[in-house]
Amino acid sequence: MRIGFALTGSFCTFSNTVPFIIGLKELGYDIVPIMSDNVYNIDTRFGSALSWRSRIEDITGREILHTLPQVEPIGPDKLLDVLVIAPCTGNTIAKLANGITDTPVVMACKSQWRNQRPVVIGISTNDGLGINLKNIAVLLASKDTFFIPFGQDKPFEKPKSLVADWSLLPSTIEAASMNQQLQPLLLTY
Ligand SMILES: Cc1cc2nc3c(=O)[nH]c(=O)nc-3n(C[C@H](O)[C@H](O)[C@H](O)COP(=O)(O)O)c2cc1C
Repeated sequence: MRIGFALTGSFCTFSNTVPFIIGLKELGYDIVPIMSDNVYNIDTRFGSALSWRSRIEDITGREILHTLPQVEPIGPDKLLDVLVIAPCTGNTIAKLANGITDTPVVMACKSQWRNQRPVVIGISTNDGLGINLKNIAVLLASKDTFFIPFGQDKPFEKPKSLVADWSLLPSTIEAASMNQQLQPLLLTY
């Protein structure tokens, strides 16, 4: 199975999700790495863009797809069995729910949906129970779209924050590849 693994700008979460790319490789999956423009280019206190790029390319053995022309063939050539977006920002969720396709990640998603193939979303956003809740609802009701089970990570400090349980990433992919949503979807941490 060939999996597209896309990272969007929840920079603090890379250390949680990147180890799963290693795990998926060890399970024998072929991983195609994809990055949003922001992830590909921005240095943060969680690491330089270059260091994350090198790490991902070392792990996957592939060049990162980071432009619209690079991801465009995902549709016509049916390149991916499953597309995973982990972490998925509030920004990318809002774009996906509203048909906006101006980053490599949302464009890859549009291509995957075009082929009626599964997309797995691992949310990590401080506005999940706020302004973005309506967009999450749109995606929950969308065909070929599955969520890594999620919950409130810090309900008292960040009352509107939602984050996926990353340990469920592999089993969510497995279920999504059979067109199933892993349950329970809503978690209590
Ligand atoms: C250090 C840092 C951490 C961030 N963490 C998050 C986050 O956890 N979740 C989120 O939705 N946005 C987060 N953001 C904001 C996004 O990076 C921003 O909305 C960006 O436009 C996302 O673009 P993308 O979705 O195309 O990657 C963070 C930004 C910075 C600089």
